[in-house]
Amino acid sequence: MTSTAARQTGDRQPQFLVAWSDGHGAARAASGFRRVFGQAPEGVWAAPGRVNLIGEHTDYNGGISLPIALPHRTYLAAAVAPDDTARFASAQAEADEVWQAALVDINPGSVTGWGTYAAGVTWALRQRGVAAPALTGYVDSCVPFGAGLSSSAALEAACVLPSQDLRAVAGPPLDRTLLVAACIAAENQIAGAPTGGMDQAAALQSAAGCALIVDTGLNSIELVPFDLAGAGLELLVIDSRAEHAHASGEYGARRRTCEQAAEVLGVPNLRQIRPDQLEAALDDLRKSKAFGSAEAAEVAVRRVRHVVTEIGRAEDFIAALQEGRMDALGPLFDASHASLRDDYEVSAPGLDLAARSARQAGALGARMTGGGFGGSAIALVQAGQARHVAEAVDQAFTAAGFGPPVFLLADAAGPAERII
Ligand code: GLA
Repeated sequence: MTSTAARQTGDRQPQFLVAWSDGHGAARAASGFRRVFGQAPEGVWAAPGRVNLIGEHTDYNGGISLPIALPHRTYLAAAVAPDDTARFASAQAEADEVWQAALVDINPGSVTGWGTYAAGVTWALRQRGVAAPALTGYVDSCVPFGAGLSSSAALEAACVLPSQDLRAVAGPPLDRTLLVAACIAAENQIAGAPTGGMDQAAALQSAAGCALIVDTGLNSIELVPFDLAGAGLELLVIDSRAEHAHASGEYGARRRTCEQAAEVLGVPNLRQIRPDQLEAALDDLRKSKAFGSAEAAEVAVRRVRHVVTEIGRAEDFIAALQEGRMDALGPLFDASHASLRDDYEVSAPGLDLAARSARQAGALGARMTGGGFGGSAIALVQAGQARHVAEAVDQAFTAAGFGPPVFLLADAAGPAERII
């Protein structure tokens, strides 16, 4: 840290959150399980958080997103419950408090609390004809909570694997597409968050060294090599520590506006509007009476402009990766951030400051990632520059009177798996 920066931040060093090793995470989860439930678990499973590189708020519009799994993981020590009642405790929840619900009582709208994400996957698997047992589980995690890094999808994915592996009648592993669908159903229907599906795919279908092309319109996933180190680059994640929440109305409101706009335009989803049709589509929205007022129609115009241009940026980003044009990535980050801030209006002061100060400190591009309204930003930096950029962002947060951000280095890591 330079002496000026050190003075302004009171000699504080930027705080980096280092991913746990699987051995450490599994030992923590297993020992928590023994303490709370007085027995040994049958196994330990792990699932990663994610950052989305680009393609934000596109997944529920039939579009493309491009997440990578983080090395930061959620660990679940689990055993089959004796009485068809799900019981979960967590190092991140109230000390040793057990969330519990009989599976027979779990239905959309009938249960609340963090355990809905965990027990919801058992419900969702049963809905799909899988004889999943109720689980007793203990969760410990180094995926920061409420940081827009998909701690909820990591929890779902960590629970869906033992639900599969501990089936009474053992069978071959289920298709991961089915597991992803069960996790999405748990989140949408039992936890009640109307999210789009990218996060669950990232947790279950990613691969180390690759980004995952999640195309919800084509219902397909594909891997594309994402070798930052080979290109002399690093990805710095900046958790602004302003907590975001999806169940809150703003995410759902964005989704409803997009669905209404698609209806007005006579298409099943906004993916159908190609960039060269955008201006004509925006004119149609402006003329429509469906939104109730000219102001509301103008809001829909901005939302649709974001979605259509963001899908275009995701396509450009993927093409640049495939062709090794790494210098094209940073400007796409910047354009995505501006669109999310100005047209989709899901950024937040801390995210804007993170992106701006990272750019000023030499990042090649920076943007908010995930749902927004708080949470995290990502900055593409030259290898070896992450600490310098983190110091500058930390200093900018102090100067603006914000609490300290937390930093992570994101390597494209592997998907959910059994550890023990
Ligand atoms: C959240 C949701 C995802 C996606 C992003 C925005 O992370 O869970 O489904 O919609 O927001 O891209």
